[in-house]
Amino acid sequence: MAAIIVSAIADLNKYVIAGLALLASITVYSVYHVIYNLFFSPIAGFPGSKLAATTGWVEFYYDYFKQGAYIYEIEKMHQKYGPIVRINPEELSIHDPTFYNEIYCIESKRRTDNYNHFGKGIDFDDHDAHRRRRKPLEPYFSRKGVMELEKTTLHPTVRKLEKRFQALKGTGTVVRLDYAFTAYTGDVIGQVCCEDREEFLEDPEFAPYCIVNLIPESVITWADPRSKKMIEYKQLTNRHIEIAKSQKLQGTESKNQRPSLLRYLVNSDLPESELSVERLTKEAQVLLGAGTVSTARTLDFVCYYILANKDIQAKLQNELRDIMSNYPEQIPSFVQLEKLPYLTSLIKEGLRLSFGNMHRLPRVFPDAAIQYKQWTIPPGVPMGMSAYLMHIDPTAYENPFTFDPDRWMGEPSPLLARNYVPFTRGSRNCLGMK
Ligand code: HEM
Repeated sequence: MAAIIVSAIADLNKYVIAGLALLASITVYSVYHVIYNLFFSPIAGFPGSKLAATTGWVEFYYDYFKQGAYIYEIEKMHQKYGPIVRINPEELSIHDPTFYNEIYCIESKRRTDNYNHFGKGIDFDDHDAHRRRRKPLEPYFSRKGVMELEKTTLHPTVRKLEKRFQALKGTGTVVRLDYAFTAYTGDVIGQVCCEDREEFLEDPEFAPYCIVNLIPESVITWADPRSKKMIEYKQLTNRHIEIAKSQKLQGTESKNQRPSLLRYLVNSDLPESELSVERLTKEAQVLLGAGTVSTARTLDFVCYYILANKDIQAKLQNELRDIMSNYPEQIPSFVQLEKLPYLTSLIKEGLRLSFGNMHRLPRVFPDAAIQYKQWTIPPGVPMGMSAYLMHIDPTAYENPFTFDPDRWMGEPSPLLARNYVPFTRGSRNCLGMK
């Protein structure tokens, strides 16, 4: 009996000792990090809260438990500490519109890596990989490239959306514009990427689940079996790439029509290593994600203000009257529409206040130190500026939270354009901004 008790105590001791050793290691590791972050990090001397400099948990708390609210904390930090602030152990935030172009700069000025604070995944982070993969996409999304899509893709899809609205007119059905516009933009990007595709606009509820395309497959199908449609989109993309690759190999690809983006990439100068089905499928999903949600958000945001504000509605109707007089036989072209000052102002104001991406989009300069006022930022330190702070800056926009398209009419102050960055700028600006 005594032997059993002694053996049990010895076992227990083993667990206690192991537990204590683990605790001690965690403590030593944490203390080391706190000391390093506060005193030895390359950005130890920059202004900011000591707590945020010590640990990434502060940011995590606001972004995960307070639904992305860290940006408001950053705003408060700038009010307290000035235009440059250390916002976590690794990263700096700058709020100075005159310095924006220095961070979001073009390729010839400086090599720029991306810093993905939400984790890796887009495969666009390193400067060279980014240039290699972005270059072949650029002509496709150029002004000329987008204009080629007008008749083949944009007009028929917008007509389809309109017909869905017309069919529901008078039925008392509540239509969620965010769903409807997401289905619309999803169908446009779907057509851009693949020749054959899923059609979200044909879904009775406008396929709201297509929004979840960036979440891993296993998680979505578990959470929502309807997301099968997204998985089907991925399979379709796979199939399309395989067909395009095999046609390239056999020299039987169609030369008559504008190729889908994926077919275009398969036949581009990209090295074979960049053309795996897996990578191209991922690229198609990134495009679907990037092009669908933000565009739909801006559309439903602007639509709300048109519907809610009679003055805006009247001004827009007035401007569109002539150009829309032969609709739908004649759908106004992009070139005609971009000449309309009120419509242009409305879209700009929509992009200003729907923000695109509210968060800072940090950039890293691997080869160069950056001088900001008296501060020398060492190479490799992520730094960013937020479109949110740029777009609500009262020195550029009077009453910044008021939706007022008229602020862009006539000859507005150059400060409006200086602070306007819905698509960011520089070598990593939005590819789909045209
Ligand atoms: C209102 C509509 C849109 C807004 C506000 C918007 C905004 C942005 C922003 C802010 C970025 C920069 C992200 C970063 O710096 O990390 C970006 C990048 C990107 N956008 Fe858009 N976007 C819109 C529509 C589109 C569309 C329609 C497409 C494609 C069809 C698209 C494709 C992309 C791609 C591929 C990138 C990554 C570019 C790169 O890293 O080189 N976007 N977008």
